[in-house]
Amino acid sequence: MDANVLHKSIKSPEWWRTAVIYQIYPRSFADGNGDGIGDLVGTTARLESLASLGIDAIWFSPFFKSPQKDAGYDVADYKTIDPLFGTNEEFYDLWAKAKSLGLRIIVDVVPNHSSDQHELFQAALKAAPGSAEREMYIFRDGQGAKGEIPPNNWESVFGGNAWTRIQEPDGTLGQWYLHIFDSSQPDFNWENPKVREFFEGVLSFWLDKGVDGFRIDVAHGLVKQVGLPDVQGAATHVTGEEDQATEHPFWGQEGVHEIIRGWRELLNKYDDRAMCAEAWVLPLSRMAKWVRPDEYHQTFNFGYLETPWDRAALEKVVTESLHEFGKVGAPSTWVLSNHDTIRHTSKYGSPSIPMHGMGIGPDSEQPDEALGLRKARAASAFMLGLPGGAYVYQGEELGLPEHTMLEGKYRQDPTYFRTNGEKVGRDGCRVPLPWEANGGASFGFNTTGKSWLPAPESFKRYARDQQEGVPGSTLELYKRLIKERKQFHLGSGEFRFAPEYSSDSTLGYINNGVLVLSNFGPDSVNLPAGKLLVTTQHDLTVEGVLEHDQTVWIKL
Ligand code: NOJ
Ligand code: CA
Repeated sequence: MDANVLHKSIKSPEWWRTAVIYQIYPRSFADGNGDGIGDLVGTTARLESLASLGIDAIWFSPFFKSPQKDAGYDVADYKTIDPLFGTNEEFYDLWAKAKSLGLRIIVDVVPNHSSDQHELFQAALKAAPGSAEREMYIFRDGQGAKGEIPPNNWESVFGGNAWTRIQEPDGTLGQWYLHIFDSSQPDFNWENPKVREFFEGVLSFWLDKGVDGFRIDVAHGLVKQVGLPDVQGAATHVTGEEDQATEHPFWGQEGVHEIIRGWRELLNKYDDRAMCAEAWVLPLSRMAKWVRPDEYHQTFNFGYLETPWDRAALEKVVTESLHEFGKVGAPSTWVLSNHDTIRHTSKYGSPSIPMHGMGIGPDSEQPDEALGLRKARAASAFMLGLPGGAYVYQGEELGLPEHTMLEGKYRQDPTYFRTNGEKVGRDGCRVPLPWEANGGASFGFNTTGKSWLPAPESFKRYARDQQEGVPGSTLELYKRLIKERKQFHLGSGEFRFAPEYSSDSTLGYINNGVLVLSNFGPDSVNLPAGKLLVTTQHDLTVEGVLEHDQTVWIKL
């Protein structure tokens, strides 16, 4: 066995070990009824074109009943589709069609908090302090003579205080409740067995319906440290190896693992189902604890998402990922964009990468669109050759940039409001998809031109119909990459870096006999011999050289 092999090939892997999973952000995918918000009927009508990408599964961001204070991550009913998106029946119709196209379905479960409109929270507000209803959430008396000071110093991820004071049923100012996110998203009390029971009910409901899996929101935040001690210093994330970690009273508490094990036991009673954790915990050695054999199947590799387009950094993060996840028998996942982060096209085109949650707005230095797209395509081609699971965020297959000039009046992300515009937030990566260049003001997102966020003029160039069947387009590039990935079983392949094909400015790896070679520039380099499978170079003729910020796949 070659000591340099970082991933051994797997025979007959379970589907989730190798799947390419496409994230649909329902309000921005396709709008069937023309009200400007994407919906299930619109999505169903576009499913064939989506399937033509060659993906294995769809993960839907939440489409459950919700006041939409955080774009659906504030759930008021976990078993019912919000009328904004359609009905449960329309979801089952979509699903049947997806099945017939060979696509699996993953739904988003949000267990850290509910909407303040959830009946459980409404009951808690009406009940007395200390009651069973209040115990479903995290209510505390305030500090100070009149309880006017919040119970501790915790801050909301979206900015401002993480506590809101309520009016008791008798009209007096009373207790405070915890919300790690917006005040419309009260945190559940996971110390309470009733909360556990409630979510087992939610998972069972969807498992019985037949969903293939769950994406679990804020999977690292459910358990809070006993006594709710103040956060020390300015730590906002868990970082550092466990024994020297900056411990944090609500991120990455040990107690989460027992909860996960319970869910895994539940899933194991069904065939073939999988869970993916959204756990922002670094380093990867620590994140890997979320995917031990009796815990989650996968976790989003945010270490990878945060890695710049840089030769040394990529070699390091891939090595670390395969090593750390491999140690616990889990696949690594690979992801470059999602609905919370700056689209990787714009990230790579930016002079400096904005901090997580900042966003890029009209007052920021603007990204170089062409350079960003070039690097993004090269980065996607680098990513899709790696062994493990890959996540694609809707629109990246078109090379869409972030909408960086979105005016304040359109913004909806609570981050924008809770920081008084200091952080522009995440709306720029959530703009509805352009389907047809001449499809009106919304570029074919619907037929009315309405759009909950207006598309920038540049989306016309990126519209899907401008790319379909056009050699060298980003859409055709993604199709080709996913097809060859399947053909050569790269998701489960034998992987090693290839120093013999690499230099200071290039990085190559070999997966199941396919060389994936990226040039980080600035100069062009000669291409090795072999059969060219895919190239990111626009004209598709390589003529023996690989230019800067391009990637090729070569069958050796
Ligand atoms: C993570 C989700 O991806 C994000 O969109 C949401 O705002 C927070 N969790 C809170 O649910
Ligand atoms: Ca609609």
